[in-house]
Amino acid sequence: MSPEGRRSATGTRLRIGVLGAAGQIGRCLVRAIEGSADLELAFAPTRAELDLGEPDRIGPWLDRRRTTLPDCVVNAAAFTKVDACESQPELARRLNARMPGAWARALAERGIAFLHLSTDYVFPGDGRRPYREDDPTGPRCVYGLTKRDGERAVLEADPSALVVRTSWVFGPGRNFVLAILDQAAKRRTGEATGPLRVVDDQQGSPTAAGDLAEALVALCRLRAGPGREPRGCLHLRNAGVTTWYGFARAILDQAGYGDLAIEPVATGVFPTAAPRPAYSVLDTGRAAGMGISMRAWTEALAGYLAGPDRPTSLIANHPLTSGPEPSGPEPAGPGPVGPESTLSDPTLSDPVRRKVSH
Ligand SMILES: NC(=O)c1ccc[n+]([C@@H]2O[C@H](COP(=O)([O-])OP(=O)(O)OC[C@H]3O[C@@H](n4cnc5c(N)ncnc54)[C@H](OP(=O)(O)O)[C@@H]3O)[C@@H](O)[C@H]2O)c1
Repeated sequence: MSPEGRRSATGTRLRIGVLGAAGQIGRCLVRAIEGSADLELAFAPTRAELDLGEPDRIGPWLDRRRTTLPDCVVNAAAFTKVDACESQPELARRLNARMPGAWARALAERGIAFLHLSTDYVFPGDGRRPYREDDPTGPRCVYGLTKRDGERAVLEADPSALVVRTSWVFGPGRNFVLAILDQAAKRRTGEATGPLRVVDDQQGSPTAAGDLAEALVALCRLRAGPGREPRGCLHLRNAGVTTWYGFARAILDQAGYGDLAIEPVATGVFPTAAPRPAYSVLDTGRAAGMGISMRAWTEALAGYLAGPDRPTSLIANHPLTSGPEPSGPEPAGPGPVGPESTLSDPTLSDPVRRKVSH
């Protein structure tokens, strides 16, 4: 059944299915769909309901929903722990390459549009101008390689699918903003000392998951139109370019920690299992040409810190959490915070630490 046919059969609302609905982007997608009168959430399976690592289950699972199938599915599921991908390449390949290819095939067979998320890590990171959609890829780590192979698998299985690359996402869940605020809060309470040290030689564009989700549902609406466009590859991110250091400075300034020092450091100071791209700015000209452009990342950050996903307990000027002002210069000491830094889970006590995912 064509998407137009299915829409008329189910009323006027566009039905969207979400994969990876518990992730940063997935949660914002579900919220954007549920908050739009013209959209309906067709499905958003949890890992317990559908393990995406088992592609054989896709067909039967969809067939059980034959009468309520979506017009469009957005895949926000992936194995996103960049360093862990190096030590678990088979799992990375299964989730980042084979799984999206299998979904693209299963959905194409049923006439359902597919939007698949990908990453700036597909590029080598040695560019000097923003990467365009058709620039050669050249991933330098297992995560990037398997995501690039996932893009290819999707477009081979369904040339009408849309692969959306984005970068430096922050939203509900573990992310860089939370890691920085966690470190800042620890310095306020004296639990940690010394300046934060943040990488200043990697350039990119922070992207709010909420803004991205709004853009993705706009793309679903476009895809439901008669031309079934856009297809192929598309770059989406908030406007503006910075470094992780610049991002961290803005986070502290906006969250009430303007007095906390950050020391800019080189990538080599924090060795990681997977190399990080030095330059991962995505060119967004194609999206702008179709009327989709996203606000500046600084504005998006302000929106995040004031919005429903704000990490309230970590914001300095929140009445419940304002700690004492620092009483003098702090002794120098390490405060390693990088794009894949450790993040104390606020729900767990030290020394339990988790990795911030990409
Ligand atoms: N975060 C970034 O900075 C960034 C940048 C560029 C591109 N992207 C891309 O954007 C997409 C979404 O990223 P994100 O940051 O929202 O990721 P995320 O927060 O890590 O969420 C990924 C989701 O995938 C689900 N998942 C993983 N393996 C699964 C399995 N076997 N079965 C069922 N569900 C599974 C996870 O479920 P659980 O919650 O159960 O673990 C989680 O809900 C990915 O394609 C990523 O490559 C992200």
